[in-house]
Amino acid sequence: MNKRILLSQIEEILSSNKDSKYYLVTMLSNISSILYHEMENTNWLGFYINEDDDKLVLGPFQGKVACMTIPYGKGVCGTCLKEKKTINVNNVHNFGGHIACDADSNSELVVPIIVKNKVRLVLDIDSPILNRFTEEDEHMVENVCELIKTSIEHLY
Ligand code: SME
Repeated sequence: MNKRILLSQIEEILSSNKDSKYYLVTMLSNISSILYHEMENTNWLGFYINEDDDKLVLGPFQGKVACMTIPYGKGVCGTCLKEKKTINVNNVHNFGGHIACDADSNSELVVPIIVKNKVRLVLDIDSPILNRFTEEDEHMVENVCELIKTSIEHLY
């Protein structure tokens, strides 16, 4: 699927069920599925949710069972929560404090979704190969996160 078609399918998902009180969980479930199946060489892809600014808790994802809680500032995801910016790790074994949920992971891309100046969600993508995520991937995933941000602003 090319990027344009992918983004239009994502927009379709984002605009469905918006009135449901379960919008966040249904929408994030389908976004994790479409991205996981469209991005080659990924072994885990999903969302963590900011709970009370001191930790992340597991949200909808695709892949093996994962850590349910990540403290603020810990691991790649907790660092993303703290630093409020995209983190692209070419080799997770060189990232101090990396949390290995799936032993197959070798590189990782984590992108924050910021609404009203707070990180509300992070999107975490793991790959079994080193140096998996290019600058183009970063931009594509940031683009998706921007669309998600616009779709969830009304919730906060
Ligand atoms: N590796 C992440 C933990 C989450 S799992 O990859 C699903 C981290 O270091 O924060």
